Amino acid sequence: MNKKMTITSIQKTKGVRPLVMITAYDALFAKLFESSSDMILVGDSLNMSFAGKSDTLSATMEQMLYHTNAVCEGAKNSFVVCDMPFGSYDNKEDALKNAMRVYKETQADCVKIEGGESRADIIEYLTSHGIAVCGHIGLLPQSVRSEGGYKVKGKNSIQREHLLRDAKAVQKAGAFCMVIEGVKAEVAAEIAQSVEIPVIGIGAGVEVDGQVLVFSDMLGLFEEFTPKFVKKYMDGAALVRSAVKNYADEVLAGEFPKEEHTY
Ligand code: KIV
Repeated sequence: MNKKMTITSIQKTKGVRPLVMITAYDALFAKLFESSSDMILVGDSLNMSFAGKSDTLSATMEQMLYHTNAVCEGAKNSFVVCDMPFGSYDNKEDALKNAMRVYKETQADCVKIEGGESRADIIEYLTSHGIAVCGHIGLLPQSVRSEGGYKVKGKNSIQREHLLRDAKAVQKAGAFCMVIEGVKAEVAAEIAQSVEIPVIGIGAGVEVDGQVLVFSDMLGLFEEFTPKFVKKYMDGAALVRSAVKNYADEVLAGEFPKEEHTY
């Protein structure tokens, strides 16, 4: 989008138009996404699609700072969200120390924290110390090992009530917006209506206040698995393979470089 979003302008979109969020892990892609997105998320999903690990749990603070710096360099006009990695916000002191590093060592605009009611004290501590927080409720990728897989939420009344409590707790703790992931669409819609801050969905249907997708999923670059909620806007893997094969074929045939590529 043309003008850099702020916490205030992000909040003002609620009920007016959906927010567009996309992940990026480096300056190259961040620059390409800048003109079409409101917010760029440096997600700890980078541990999977960028670093090749099987889940997000081993992402470190150093990794997140490195990639956030790269994204901020590439997209100077974007509102950048830095994901706090697993284990970096287990208690108030660690959370504040690590979130302060995000503000001091990068140009990120806010941090994102996974968890609802159970993390409300941490969110409140951060927001009361001048850190802007984006919440994250529903399916929490950092809980994949403790929950034994990625489990869609909001499937029964107990889960629905739990999610409603989570959303309200995150809002009350001072988060300015939240991501809701892997939640039945009707429950996500109810949650979006029950809070005043924007609720940005991923695998949570259309009746929320915005959408976020992991860029390597939606560009078809990540081939390990594709969740049901992902729409592939291009077949990036096939395009890249074919381009690199063309290059290899031309090198092997002595057809590259040609005169125009030669000094
Ligand atoms: O890490 C990430 O990319 C995320 C999105 C799935 C919202 O948290």
